[in-house]
Amino acid sequence: MCGIVGYIGRRRAKEILLESLRRLEYRGYDSAGLALIEDGRLLIFKRAGKVAELEGMVANTDLQATLGIGHSRWATHGRPTDENAHPHQDCQGRLAVIHNGIIENYLPLKQELQARGHKFTSETDTEVLAHLFEECYHGDLEEAVRAGLKRVKGAFAIAVISKDSEEIVAARVGSPLVIGLGEGENFLASDIPAILPYTRRMLFLNDGEMAVLTAAGVRLSIFSGEPIAREPRRIDWDPVTAQKGGYKHFMLKEIHEQPQAVEDTIRGRYSLEGEVFLEELDLSAQKAKGIRNIYLLACGTSFYAGLVAKYLWQDWLKLPIGAEIGSEFRYSDPYIDEKTLVVAISQSGETADTLAGVRKAKERGATVIAVANVVGSSITREADGVVYTHAGPEIGVASTKTFTAQLAALALLGVYLGRRRGELSPSRASEILSGLSSGPRQLEAILRKEPEVQALARRFYDKPDFLFLGRDLLHPIALEGALKLKEISYIHAEGYPAGEMKHGPIALIDEEMPVVVLVTKNSVYDKVFANIEEVKARKGIVLAFTDEINKEIEKVADQIFEVPQTPEVLTPMVFVVPLQLLAYHIGVLRGTDVDQPRNLAKSVTVE
Ligand code: AGP
Repeated sequence: MCGIVGYIGRRRAKEILLESLRRLEYRGYDSAGLALIEDGRLLIFKRAGKVAELEGMVANTDLQATLGIGHSRWATHGRPTDENAHPHQDCQGRLAVIHNGIIENYLPLKQELQARGHKFTSETDTEVLAHLFEECYHGDLEEAVRAGLKRVKGAFAIAVISKDSEEIVAARVGSPLVIGLGEGENFLASDIPAILPYTRRMLFLNDGEMAVLTAAGVRLSIFSGEPIAREPRRIDWDPVTAQKGGYKHFMLKEIHEQPQAVEDTIRGRYSLEGEVFLEELDLSAQKAKGIRNIYLLACGTSFYAGLVAKYLWQDWLKLPIGAEIGSEFRYSDPYIDEKTLVVAISQSGETADTLAGVRKAKERGATVIAVANVVGSSITREADGVVYTHAGPEIGVASTKTFTAQLAALALLGVYLGRRRGELSPSRASEILSGLSSGPRQLEAILRKEPEVQALARRFYDKPDFLFLGRDLLHPIALEGALKLKEISYIHAEGYPAGEMKHGPIALIDEEMPVVVLVTKNSVYDKVFANIEEVKARKGIVLAFTDEINKEIEKVADQIFEVPQTPEVLTPMVFVVPLQLLAYHIGVLRGTDVDQPRNLAKSVTVE
């Protein structure tokens, strides 16, 4: 998730682009850059670090350009370095391109372009676009972009400029793009907040559409060239609401970004024939077959993602698998040798306890794979291979979209290992992957049920304690549901494997205690049902979150929330979303600071 901006008009582009980038920094902040056209020259300024670094770089320049584009990057392909920062150029320095999204087929395209003599200067997927457009450019920039895009698979919002023309050409598939209309000037951005100070009249591009911006106007068309007529909309948001995309809090925005986060994480990484492609991982079949045990290593919410993977992978990989908490693992004496695989899961890639566990594992000869969201973070640098989640930056302290993205990445990694080890047949792998591919749609469906969760929040927000129960794949989700509620609302909550309730927590249950029970139709359905009866016998309040509604459950549960039935690999994902929403809405009703709960930090880099 990067931020892109563009300006064409009469004013100095530099200041407008920098201000717009500052407003988009929440979308990505590991590097930033500008491309400006001045006196027929293409000038590029770019630098690793926040937009402030770029500002420093251009502070003493007297740039009069009135046409330019800018980018704030959240790295997906290639580390956050000066070279990988956008804009990217063609070989001749005529064109500049900025991009938000992922070009799925960049590797074969890059090889093809290199074979024809193109020189690449970055590790990014984006640079292929500059060279592709270069090949198609014969004086008409719009036509060059249109022709080049025919070769591209993936998701993109792009803006392209050329030193030979007074225009910005933009296009989108799967990544947002908005155009702001001014008087004698026009603007372009990934999102409304970037251009809100300059105009309130906006045009929204849909997938498969292009725009050509000049100072005098904006022309829209579909990729095949047919023109589109569209009325602009007037946006009345205040600037703070705008940055949160119209949501009251980043946490809520990020909960709603989960379909996209999962889509971006799985995009281009599997085939429905049962194959998984993970470009930053180079694990030979021989090495995979040699693995004798696996540890999934993480902290907090990421640990619960590891616990989900443990349940799934046991079945897929037929190996001893442990899910380990970083702070425990680092001081324990786990069995590790060169046939051990350690999978370190971390949104930030900087969590001190997980990093210490990685170092211990490496010292003892294990192979380490990182599953991380931040490109170039410490854990990814020390690991032997990486599977990135492509959730984009998460601003809310509570992990939400990065958790579901981790579940998706771990499902891919599990199938990858299973196929390489020969434990998963192509048909079984294909079945799992086809289930996973419907994840974004299923997440959209569950998000539409937010008003029902809000009603539950209104009913229970003043309770002092909650218990969350689940078994099997829903055991980690019960733990995560309790963690979210604690973090966001400060309500005391316990998450338990439902079968353990009788060994202690049952003593807590009385008529005041809401017990959230997660129920799916699997091999332990009857057992979970028996646990519900045990809660009811102690007069507890049962809130059943279930994908299996029947007369029995209707009889015993005080509240039922229906979750869509999905393939097994998606069950944890669809069950966690209403629990995130429950925590969020209870937090809001209790007046807590949901984006920055007390005592917590987004990334725990100390012991
Ligand atoms: C979850 O909401 C918390 N923010 C926390 O438990 C977090 O998951 C944990 O600190 C691990 O962080 P990481 O994924 O960046 O390693």
